[in-house]
Amino acid sequence: MIFVTGASGYIGSHLVASLRNEGLPVICLVRKETSQTQIQYLTACGAQYVVGDLLEPDALIPHIQGKVTRVVHLVGSIVASKKESFETVHCRKTAALVSMCKKIGVEKIVLLTAIGAASDALSEYGRTKWMAEEEVRKSGIPYVILQASLVFGNLGGLRNSKMLIRLGELVKRTPFVPVLGNGRNKVQPVFIGDLVTCLKKAVTDDRLRDKTIQIAGPEQMTFDQMIDKIADYYEVRRIKIHIPIPLIYPIAFVLEKILPVPPVSRDQLKILQNDNICDIEEMKKNFPVRMVTFAEGFKL
Ligand SMILES: NC(=O)c1ccc[n+]([C@@H]2O[C@H](COP(=O)([O-])OP(=O)(O)OC[C@H]3O[C@@H](n4cnc5c(N)ncnc54)[C@H](OP(=O)(O)O)[C@@H]3O)[C@@H](O)[C@H]2O)c1
Repeated sequence: MIFVTGASGYIGSHLVASLRNEGLPVICLVRKETSQTQIQYLTACGAQYVVGDLLEPDALIPHIQGKVTRVVHLVGSIVASKKESFETVHCRKTAALVSMCKKIGVEKIVLLTAIGAASDALSEYGRTKWMAEEEVRKSGIPYVILQASLVFGNLGGLRNSKMLIRLGELVKRTPFVPVLGNGRNKVQPVFIGDLVTCLKKAVTDDRLRDKTIQIAGPEQMTFDQMIDKIADYYEVRRIKIHIPIPLIYPIAFVLEKILPVPPVSRDQLKILQNDNICDIEEMKKNFPVRMVTFAEGFKL
């Protein structure tokens, strides 16, 4: 049975639906705060679920021991909350998962992180994702780590990515679209269906092990060009207003202080200053992906 953490999210819901479509048994980790709608989606797919926290493994182990042989670890967030730091969400929770996996004899762990995960990344998101990768690489358990670019599209999962929903709404409703930074930073968006194909093969194919592979789509584009493509989808023309990052820093700082989960954080602004692109030869060599373009696959 496959244990999926972060199952109630955008990528998790698509993965669970796809694994269940192939008749694979799945048990999802959800948390106390996860909404009933999200849980109902997972059970309607035919997945089992357990409510718990990776930092309290003793309560989880009785529900999964003897059943779970493989794990896909998707828990993560692009914004740290006041309640939980990136260090807790990415590093401590991954370390706890790895030690639980060792205890119950898990045969394989698949971890999803992001392009830019590195020990010297500018953002704390990137650094803590790299630390999570290291926990898995050092575990001694066969693993596959996938580092994804921006994921897009909706194939009937719970929803699209939060960022694209927000961007889509902005482009649909407002003639002037505010863009953080100069809009020239590059992205290489990967279609949700292609990412799910990679995750599924990574977790089920025993020949694939102890690899870290970058996952992205077939086209590199600037952030501005991606906004133009969203505008094309809505058949509208939009004027982009570029807001210099140094101007948004103080606003992000205040939002972080007053909101439990800020809509924009200083760490996200650091991520925006780097390109989010990669070489996809290794991905194409290892996975039977369709390489869906942004224009083909974008749908809110
Ligand atoms: N979307 C992208 O473009 C993209 C690109 C590269 C990498 N990733 C990585 O892929 C993973 C999934 O992303 P996603 O887009 O599906 O995100 P998402 O929709 O926000 O889902 C995140 C999942 O993690 C859970 N979660 C969040 N914070 C948690 C915490 N503190 N403790 C326990 N569970 C927590 C959420 O549970 P609730 O439903 O209960 O909130 C949800 O199941 C993340 O690790 C993300 O960093 C995403």
